[in-house]
Amino acid sequence: MNNNIKILNEKLELAKLGGGQARIDKQHQKKKLTARERVLYLLDEGSFEEIGALVTHRTKDFGMADQQFYGDGVVTGYGTVNGKLIYIFAQDFTVFGGSLSETHAEKICKIMDMAVNVGAPIIGLNDSGGARIQEGVRSLGGYADIFYRNVQASGVIPQISAIMGPCAGGAVYSPAMTDFTMMVEDTSYMFVTGPNVVKTVTNEEVTSEELGGASVHSSKSGVAHITSTNDVECLEDIKKLLSYLPQSNKEKADDIPFELNDEVRDNLNTIVPDNPNKPYDMHQVIKGIIDEDSFYEIHKDYAENIIVGFARLAGKSIGIVANQPMFLAGVLDVNSSKKAARFVRFCDCFNIPLLVLEDVPGFLPGTDQEWNGIIVNGAKLLYAFSEATVPRITVITRKAYGGAYDVMNSKHIGADMNFAWPNAEIAVMGAKGAAEIIFKREISKADDKEAKWKEKEAEYAKLFANPYSAAERGFVDDVILPENTRRKLIKAFSMLENKDVVRPNRKHGNIPL
Ligand code: HXC
Repeated sequence: MNNNIKILNEKLELAKLGGGQARIDKQHQKKKLTARERVLYLLDEGSFEEIGALVTHRTKDFGMADQQFYGDGVVTGYGTVNGKLIYIFAQDFTVFGGSLSETHAEKICKIMDMAVNVGAPIIGLNDSGGARIQEGVRSLGGYADIFYRNVQASGVIPQISAIMGPCAGGAVYSPAMTDFTMMVEDTSYMFVTGPNVVKTVTNEEVTSEELGGASVHSSKSGVAHITSTNDVECLEDIKKLLSYLPQSNKEKADDIPFELNDEVRDNLNTIVPDNPNKPYDMHQVIKGIIDEDSFYEIHKDYAENIIVGFARLAGKSIGIVANQPMFLAGVLDVNSSKKAARFVRFCDCFNIPLLVLEDVPGFLPGTDQEWNGIIVNGAKLLYAFSEATVPRITVITRKAYGGAYDVMNSKHIGADMNFAWPNAEIAVMGAKGAAEIIFKREISKADDKEAKWKEKEAEYAKLFANPYSAAERGFVDDVILPENTRRKLIKAFSMLENKDVVRPNRKHGNIPL
């Protein structure tokens, strides 16, 4: 063989070995795949093209000149997932713990720039000990170069981060600025300061898992949108998520070929109980409306009083935001407002129509909520819906009370179509509370106060605990039978397909953060 070819092949073989077989074995012992195995699993067979396999770091301090590994701790390149182009970087923990050097960052920035210029999603598989300690501020500069690009790419191409190992210090801010953060249970964690610093500063003893493991971030902080039990499941989740997304903000998500045959679904007629105070599972309503098995829930274990996720309706990708009467009666609170607002904004960035299923008794009262800023956080959801220009449809399945009626994609804030089921109650508040306030004097004067209250409650309910006052004013476009909901939505979304709204020119709005 020509000696030059031999040299190249040897170099590429070395690059494939990362930090060497012993470190690869260690990675496997931790039940983790290597960076290269992850990339090859995620991408369509034979599609991966590596960029920068022979990059090495430039550091001479601390004996680093003698420690050179091709690739410098990150595998970068492009390929396809289900036939669609994506750009990818995967940090290689076998090389200096996947730590980020100046050159490591340059490799990531290079493919981020390409992804934005070409218009295709970027996937980051994070598994890193953070800043390359031997490089000092050069590493910090590299992080900032990535953060800056995360922001420039935001709303232009979908950005997905999978945390598949450590992710600590300022390194957490790149995933936080991408659209979705996924975490692998037991093998990944994210925190700004680790357990040792926590102990020193606050005297609190906490493990990495307790401080920033997948379960904490998926249920308590909301940092993680999706968690998976292992690397393979996480990579499958990325594939699934991508299937609902367009390549960029200039495109729409691909339609899946679909034949209509089950437009009327009569099982929807019996899901909402007659007793307005009885809970039911909104997942059943979602299931009853969408294409079979097409719901992909995001933020499943966080703020469970609201459900968000992607689905398909007659083969088209849609985003769903739905109150969940099973948790806190489906009220809006701080966390559910933030969760839904972020999802609405993502869908709006990427031309994904929004379906809202509404059963909301109002905002959650109390000092906890007020002190944690329900005003400013509830406003986030109001703002997000108000600025969204994608097709937006609401179905009121039961309660639509108070300010929450306005917020949950009402016609007044730009929804295209609002439907209500016949048992919908659209009012300022529940009949009982309303009667107590407006008939206070009459009730207090009555001999039988309880009976009077009941009578006034019934009077108010008759007038307002129905969808017809709203329908008479056109606030609701149509009162529909639950069984016809799927058919109505398919037609309405199809009618709205070419919706095109141009907003006034401005630098950007000032969403209440
Ligand atoms: C250079 C690093 C490194 C780092 C790990 N390594 N972290 N090299 N810079 N930041 C190397 C180790 O020397 C070791 O090399 C190999 O990676 C594997 O590390 P281990 O410690 O053996 O692995 P493990 O026991 O699994 O522990 C992983 C770890 C630990 C928890 C990540 O390595 C660790 O605490 N690292 C330091 C984390 C840290 O403080 N980073 C800086 C944070 S500040 P060998 O040769 O033995 O294989 C920061 C700021 C970012 O990141 C700011 C952005 C704005």
